[in-house]
Amino acid sequence: MSWPKMIRGVLEKWGVYRVEGVFDEVVVVGMGGSGIVGDYLQVLAAERGPLPVYVVKSYILPRFVDEDSLVLLISYSGNTLETLLAFKSALLSKLRVVVVSSGGVLKEEAWRRGVLYIEVPGGIVPRASLPSMLYSILGLLDTSGYSVITLREAEESVVFLEDVKSSILGSSSKLAKWLYSECVIPGRLVIIATHTPMGVLALRFKNEFNENSKLHVKVDVAPEWMHNDIVGYEAPLRRDYCVLEIIDPDNAVGCKLVEFMRDIYSEVTKSFYRVELRGENTLEKLLYGSLVGGLTSIFLAELRGVDPLITKTIELYKLKTKEIFKE
Ligand code: F6R
Repeated sequence: MSWPKMIRGVLEKWGVYRVEGVFDEVVVVGMGGSGIVGDYLQVLAAERGPLPVYVVKSYILPRFVDEDSLVLLISYSGNTLETLLAFKSALLSKLRVVVVSSGGVLKEEAWRRGVLYIEVPGGIVPRASLPSMLYSILGLLDTSGYSVITLREAEESVVFLEDVKSSILGSSSKLAKWLYSECVIPGRLVIIATHTPMGVLALRFKNEFNENSKLHVKVDVAPEWMHNDIVGYEAPLRRDYCVLEIIDPDNAVGCKLVEFMRDIYSEVTKSFYRVELRGENTLEKLLYGSLVGGLTSIFLAELRGVDPLITKTIELYKLKTKEIFKE
């Protein structure tokens, strides 16, 4: 609920961070709640930005990344090993690098090596910090002459979020109750169905339900879904689904695509819920949806009696990474 305040904090520093020179593409490297910031940027940039954005959720940088690329390394904790390994290989290849974190090894290394470093406020879980990481890189790109979102649009989006915040609280609590009775109690798999370019939101919902509510979720995005996944419904093995549709009401084709998906799902389930995104533009719709997803996942965690803040198995994996990635 403090996202508007969080964004305002970043807006105060808009214009402070800048990368000099010309580049051909932006490569965002990060994992989980940090890596998804790259997906958001990719959607926004595809719609109106001047540069292609590639997202790397790995410890290996693609071969095409070179001196004409701008590499943004994002890790909220600053300690995620995959991101640290990519950082090291970017430095070895003398690439143009910017680091975003709330501290950790990445901060120390960035300072030590004179790399441009953007600090976001610490003390919360990475996924809750989505707006500070996203707006930090939007500010960096705008100031560096590659604007995806202008300061004015960023400011308008905060006003929008402030306006809709309390209504989101109510609708998220309602959605969480529906998910609890339609999915959790009967043990159904949650399908999140949407259309492009909102696939990123379906992914965000999935991650929030995974990490906060400890649930498995399937993500279906039209129109690609119509070209493979759909065929599984010709001879379905299971009928224990519930479907959460996310639609942008201003996208007529998208809405028709999701309607068609519903016809097919209807063969296997009668359990549907629809979230209609609000907002004047894609940034506002993404913010709106992200807050609905986040709050719903927390309400759902409460209903399930699980702690949304603790992600034991991610920590278990992170302990193992030192062994797994040891050469
Ligand atoms: C945990 C979470 C994870 C992390 C991921 C990478 O709260 O959201 O998805 O984001 O494990 O860690 P960071 O973001 O610290 O690089």
